[in-house]
Amino acid sequence: MIDFKNVSKVYDNGTKALQNINIHIDKGEFVFIVGASGAGKSTFIKLMMREEVPTNGTIVVNGINLNELKKRKIPYFRRNMGIVFQDFRLIPNMTVYDNIAFAMRVVGAKEKDIKKRVAYLINLVGLSAKVKCKPTELSGGEQQRVSLARALANNANIIIADEPTGNVDPQMSYEIVELLTRLNDAGTTVIMVTHAHDLVEKFDKRVIMLDGGEIVVDGNVQVSDLPVQSSSHLNVAKKEEIESKFTETPVAEESEDEALPEEKSDDDFLNAIIGDTESYRVYLEKDDAEGGDES
Ligand SMILES: Nc1ncnc2c1ncn2[C@@H]1O[C@H](COP(=O)(O)OP(=O)(O)O)[C@@H](O)[C@H]1O
Ligand SMILES: [Mg+2]
Repeated sequence: MIDFKNVSKVYDNGTKALQNINIHIDKGEFVFIVGASGAGKSTFIKLMMREEVPTNGTIVVNGINLNELKKRKIPYFRRNMGIVFQDFRLIPNMTVYDNIAFAMRVVGAKEKDIKKRVAYLINLVGLSAKVKCKPTELSGGEQQRVSLARALANNANIIIADEPTGNVDPQMSYEIVELLTRLNDAGTTVIMVTHAHDLVEKFDKRVIMLDGGEIVVDGNVQVSDLPVQSSSHLNVAKKEEIESKFTETPVAEESEDEALPEEKSDDDFLNAIIGDTESYRVYLEKDDAEGGDES
């Protein structure tokens, strides 16, 4: 289902993010991708969803050679994927409800089905009280859960999640991975990036470890057997401890002129999530012309 053959990725600035990756992931597998910050995990995933293209090598996903995939076909390719982005990528001017519903509207689902499914998903991720909130009114963990609900909206056959538990507490993290394992039991392929070794330990799954852009471990290994990561990187636990000191800013220090959220247009988000804006426009126009619910 997912094949990487001799794949390397060098970014425009010369950064060698991945070097000669060879990997096969079967339909129905559950894979944890681990490794230190900067190891290449997100790049690996971005190549898989065709957000980035490889500098060398071949990637085949769901029988599609991504090197040959035309840009305008990307949205259709992504329809089989539920993606949880490390940076959430929620649409700022849409409510929680609409952010999730949007994923279904894009593929032409009926409003009646959307209503049912979105209500179910919002309940599943524990956000019933926040349905009408905009992303800026949510904590990082809540935004992450909206992103997860959106990824589940269309019953994708592959779930790709980049650190989906990076902003939630240990209990919630456990529940999210448990939810993903239930989907996996039902046949969904799950690929999850994490640096939470306790999760990897609890859920005994295939582990692919990247270090400096290379695969250093691949298999059903124990966490205690994972090698120590490159000395150029901080120990992950230490790094988290340091980061948490920075993020736990006292509320009292918040000022009126706090930094505005980064300016991004809807188009940027649509591009990121769906692949292009055109199919969404066509869908909206078609919907207007037909005047709603056809059956
Ligand atoms: N768009 C980009 N342009 C240049 N360098 C990048 C870009 N994205 C990631 N990198 C670099 O590629 C390496 C791998 O990054 P990434 O895949 O994000 O790692 P991880 O997700 O494991 O932290 C890092 O050195 C990072 O700085
Ligand atoms: Mg990353």
